[in-house]
Amino acid sequence: MTKVVKKILVTCALPYANGSIHLGHMLEHIQADIWVRYQKMRGKQVYFICADDAHGTPIMLKALQLGLSPEQVITKMKSEHEIDFANFNISYDNYHTTHSKENHYFVKLIYKILKKNRFIKKHTVFQLYDPIKKMFLPDRFVKGTCPKCKSLDQYGDNCEICGSTYNSTDLIEAKSILSGVKPEIRDSNHLFFDLPSFSNMLKDWIHSGIMPKQVANKMQEWFKSGLKQWNISRDAPYFGFKIPQVPDKYFYVWLDAPIGYMGSFKNLCDKNSNIDFEEFWNKNSTTELYHFIGKDIVYFHSLFWPAILEGCNFRKPTYLFVHGYITINGAKMSKSRGTFIKASTWLRHLDSESLRYYYATKISSNIDDIDLNFIDFVKRVNSDIVNKVINLASRNANFLIKYFDGKLSNKLADPLLYQTFIKASEKIGDAWENREFNYATRKIMTMADIANRYVDNQKPWMLAKDTKHIVELQSICSMSINLFRIIMIWLKPVLPLISKKAEDFLQSELSWEDIPYPLINHTISPFKEMYKRIEMNKINDLIKDAKKECHEKSSKEK
Ligand code: MSP
Ligand code: ZN
Repeated sequence: MTKVVKKILVTCALPYANGSIHLGHMLEHIQADIWVRYQKMRGKQVYFICADDAHGTPIMLKALQLGLSPEQVITKMKSEHEIDFANFNISYDNYHTTHSKENHYFVKLIYKILKKNRFIKKHTVFQLYDPIKKMFLPDRFVKGTCPKCKSLDQYGDNCEICGSTYNSTDLIEAKSILSGVKPEIRDSNHLFFDLPSFSNMLKDWIHSGIMPKQVANKMQEWFKSGLKQWNISRDAPYFGFKIPQVPDKYFYVWLDAPIGYMGSFKNLCDKNSNIDFEEFWNKNSTTELYHFIGKDIVYFHSLFWPAILEGCNFRKPTYLFVHGYITINGAKMSKSRGTFIKASTWLRHLDSESLRYYYATKISSNIDDIDLNFIDFVKRVNSDIVNKVINLASRNANFLIKYFDGKLSNKLADPLLYQTFIKASEKIGDAWENREFNYATRKIMTMADIANRYVDNQKPWMLAKDTKHIVELQSICSMSINLFRIIMIWLKPVLPLISKKAEDFLQSELSWEDIPYPLINHTISPFKEMYKRIEMNKINDLIKDAKKECHEKSSKEK
């Protein structure tokens, strides 16, 4: 019987094209990449895609501010984003943009089907209008006094003091943040997606094991207050796709953004005739679809997106992998503290593997926030990667090279110990699979401790002193190198660069299915440095640099 290979499509949330990739984004891309690399190692057929989220008011305004066209801004941003992800070895099969012909095609198609199926409704909306800038004002472009608690200087959608939400037209003494003038109230016709008619489907779907329980329970509140019709249109000027046959109206960015997952995948299919778009997206698809997303965008992915897919007869996601937020040294990333760190700034001072590893030690399947503490970071990376793992190779390799030309012995010195490593693989594999990365790394380090204890007990440096023990020396060092090899196979999804060096050193590809078969009578290469310890002063430089960068940026913006 031929084995059926599982086919999986994995996405990360599409980063906004109005800003750089930072350490918060990296949490998601690293988490997804580790998972994808593990799945690929286990023989699954995985496509890993993403794109820039290119539309919306902030992009339009940024372009205005810079004196560029929105197209110029998003083109430059996209290539910056792609470089950042490549430098962190995020293994995308495709990185596209929502401002693409493929996305435009699917947005129009989906709108047409939703309309035909009567899920698009028309309503009149009263909105604030800036008579100087001649545009309707999005909520975040209006400030005024909170209608509930009367706090000054609050945004048009909610009050940061009392937490209440309201319509921007209810703000007291509202002012446009663009022109500073009092906005007028004007009415405008808008198109709404009829979310409430999907209430029953969504209630069932959410509790059918497609997202963490913690998240599903929280969503009960949204159902309690009742689902509302969702405005999918925006007035010109806007940067996005025009709504067919509706003058001066554009699709809201959050309508076309998730459809961007399809757009990016279609773009990949068009470049690669082996991949069949239909197979992945038709209603009865047997493939799996996973979205990695932050807790802030659950609403869009668990209500609007599945309802839209249902409304057009496409398949729905298999699971939403929701994660929490990154905090740095216990606090939100902050520009003034120098902890708002861009991916590119990080790489000017530190390497990608250290962040990948540190995040892995913290990531689990729950949605708690994750803290990057710099003192802990330096200690953890040096102690785990350098002291426990790479040292295991270096302290044994030198004897093998010096006395045996790198040749490993013809049998295992301690088959029982090797068995315990084979056995541990199952738990570690399950932990990667279930996104319990913190458990996986902890277990791997426990095994690395066992391997190092083995070396400490066998004392190869003593054996090397007497030619009488030469066979034993080869055998002990070979055993240790074989344990190092298994540890590196386990860590391969996290550490692609170090793994490559380990493969060169071992003269053997690190593959999961080879775990039961040790390297016997096999020749390894001389040991070369695989990783440099991290010095604390690098962190200080990084923070200084991040502070400077934010400062320069804010003075340029003034
Ligand atoms: N463009 C939307 C997503 C559209 S998906 C169809 C968006 N973009 S974003 O750039 O603001 O965020 C992209 C992803 O990064 C989201 O999943 C978000 O949760 C995540 N993060 C942004 N800041 C983060 C942290 N500080 N910590 C962890 N993840 C964070 O939302
Ligand atoms: Zn208030």
